[in-house]
Amino acid sequence: MRLPEIRIAKLRPHLPIVQGGMAVRLSTHRLAAAVAEAGGIGIIAGTGMTARELVREIRRARALTKGIIGVNVMFAVSAFADLVKASIAEKIDLVVSGAGFSRDMFGWGKESGTPIVPIVSTARLAKTAEKLGASAVVVEGFEAGGHLGTNESMKKIVPEVASAVSIPVIAAGGIVEAEDIWEAMSLGADGVQMGIRFSASVEGNGHDRLKQAYLDATADDIVLIKSPVGLPGRAIRNVFSERLAAGETFPPEHCIQCLKVCSKTFCIRQALINAQQGKLENGIIFSGKNVDRIREILPVREIIRRLTSKLATMPALPPFPRPAAQPRVVIPAASAGAGV
Ligand SMILES: Cc1cc2nc3c(=O)[nH]c(=O)nc-3n(C[C@H](O)[C@H](O)[C@H](O)COP(=O)(O)O)c2cc1C
Repeated sequence: MRLPEIRIAKLRPHLPIVQGGMAVRLSTHRLAAAVAEAGGIGIIAGTGMTARELVREIRRARALTKGIIGVNVMFAVSAFADLVKASIAEKIDLVVSGAGFSRDMFGWGKESGTPIVPIVSTARLAKTAEKLGASAVVVEGFEAGGHLGTNESMKKIVPEVASAVSIPVIAAGGIVEAEDIWEAMSLGADGVQMGIRFSASVEGNGHDRLKQAYLDATADDIVLIKSPVGLPGRAIRNVFSERLAAGETFPPEHCIQCLKVCSKTFCIRQALINAQQGKLENGIIFSGKNVDRIREILPVREIIRRLTSKLATMPALPPFPRPAAQPRVVIPAASAGAGV
């Protein structure tokens, strides 16, 4: 199978492979630039950063590649508007919003000509996003790492969304190998977003101890944690997740109010930073469900080379029936979804 071309507004990457934004500081300039250089779309995760830090990351990525670089910002963070606007001012190629979306962000995209790509987990939200002006949607199922907006499989939601919208559909959740990409495309996806496979790469910005935890994880180690954001999160079981599961709380000593709404049972930002820095005992190790299939930490170029050469040996797919383009109308703001 030759991978089909994906067009996201004016963007035409060589490969329909998007690297999922991974906060906090796991997908920074080096990973995003490596994916962009390999022909995919590299995404810098802005959640948990200041606008200044995010701008620095965008500039560093641009110094490494002329490929396509986007940012991912979780809608639930207080600095959402600042981070998105700062990225647009840097002429970022696209903005992906995780864990919800609002009408105004499509206006910012329209004014600047920046494609806006929300992460959704239902056909209904995908349709709303399309009407509001989304250039594509990422459809994330419960197999995904990080915060989850659904308990349905990507395999069930992708065909529903592909039958409901005419914009590109990018499948996310549990995609690690060439077979997963082929299956997602057979279900109607125009592209795929991969998270944990890219965090477990040489260019992933996590500590070596974190990458070792990815390699050590078995299928039985994958758990759901209750995040203070108000969503479940998929992670690898460790001492910290066990303590949370046992009902312990760790109210933050210094809260910077990074989230619009937070239960303060623990600080998710700090727990993710701890994991990124290798302080795993106090960290949350977000991970997709299929991390146990990852055997090696490889350079991004090699990950993509192996995926595309395997796909080249697989059968071509018949076109998936898609609806005609919908007229865009002004409708009230929506907010919900998945991400982070
Ligand atoms: C460590 C980690 C951090 C993540 N952080 C974010 C994030 O900041 N924003 C977001 O929208 N999604 C986030 N995600 C979800 C990914 O972007 C991606 O959609 C998901 O990981 C896909 O599932 P997979 O890991 O099975 O490939 C995160 C996932 C992981 C594993």
